[in-house]
Amino acid sequence: MSSQHSPALEQLLSTRAKIGMGASLPPARPVEHAQYDFGGGFPDPASFPYDGIVEATARMMKVEGAQALTYGTPQGYLGLRELVCHKYELFEGLKVKPENIVVSNGSGHALSLAFSAFLDVGDVMITEAPTFSGTLHTIRRHGPEIVDVPVDGDGLVTSVLREKLATLRKQGRRCKLIYTIPNFQNPAGPTLTLKRRQEVVALAQEFDTVILEDDAYGELRFEGEPQPSLFSLDTSGRVVRAGTISKILGAGMRLGWLLAPSALVPVLQSFLFGGGVAPFTSRVSTWYMRDNMAEHVKVLVNVYRDKRDAMLRGLWEILKGTDVEISKPEGGFFIWIKLPAGTDTKRLQTLAGEARVQYTAGLAFFPNGGGERHIRLAFSYESPEKCYEGARLLGRAILAAKA
Ligand SMILES: Cc1ncc(COP(=O)(O)O)c(C=O)c1O
Repeated sequence: MSSQHSPALEQLLSTRAKIGMGASLPPARPVEHAQYDFGGGFPDPASFPYDGIVEATARMMKVEGAQALTYGTPQGYLGLRELVCHKYELFEGLKVKPENIVVSNGSGHALSLAFSAFLDVGDVMITEAPTFSGTLHTIRRHGPEIVDVPVDGDGLVTSVLREKLATLRKQGRRCKLIYTIPNFQNPAGPTLTLKRRQEVVALAQEFDTVILEDDAYGELRFEGEPQPSLFSLDTSGRVVRAGTISKILGAGMRLGWLLAPSALVPVLQSFLFGGGVAPFTSRVSTWYMRDNMAEHVKVLVNVYRDKRDAMLRGLWEILKGTDVEISKPEGGFFIWIKLPAGTDTKRLQTLAGEARVQYTAGLAFFPNGGGERHIRLAFSYESPEKCYEGARLLGRAILAAKA
């Protein structure tokens, strides 16, 4: 515990607050004043629709102003829930109802609601390894035992998932929940194949567990065929799906949601305060996205594809001929790198820092250790030019960090 807290105060903290306290996580942003910020999954600031948001706010305030500035309904603004349904139909042909959507403060919060609904301290759950570091942090606050399953180029490895579920069953234990990121997985980038999606859903049914499907990036597909969601493949009401407006409009709106089977909606909603989540930004986002969603997402797909390509070009120009492995995700925000054998990762950190290149070390993404040879780069935030230049600088740092 930090020295700012007195020992007396520490005794007052809840079990949940104390779990994992003091565990040493790598600093989120080791390079101060980075010139090339490839660290966090921040959306592209140049493509925020500033004028469109001002205009939508003015229009909305004339019609709904008083409603926007008072408490909302617990499940969230109906207009936003309808918009989310429209989004699913537009991008996936998936028909769902607003009654099955619960609005949250970003999808990070949505995931937290689901963990709160299913996990007690000491329960067993399954995540991918690697998986999103932010969610790992949230999971750890809930205190479950995390069993991890690897991902390969086709996503979560279902043969290992089966083995782990079977081992737990033999031990008389049950996996409460499987957390998976099927599209452009953060951080490793693969998209779960259709066959594996069907297998994950079938395994959840066979072993009587819940799936939490985290889809923060699904609309941002640069190439390849979209795959049906786990939610749409499930017929037994055991998939809860999280979504967000952060990557397709603006993370500052802090809006996300859970799409859940009807029986679970009241349970998930019960973890929210009264007043609903963000009635104001819900309305602003809805009024903008109603008229512009398809067009805006089309623009974003091109923006992020250019950035991915620029970063990959820069990396390969410097690193070709080495045994480096570099992912090429079909969408999303991230490139995952397996460093050449013998890379001194401490030295790489120093050299990248001197070049003012920020990245995230692989360790942050593994629940039970691993990732020493990996790093994650986000191409989302910097311009294509900076993605290219920074990738070349990092490539040189990687070459120079060979022990
Ligand atoms: C896989 C994944 N899930 C969830 C989130 C949370 O995003 P937000 O809370 O902004 O919706 C992120 C953000 O980077 C993410 O990458």
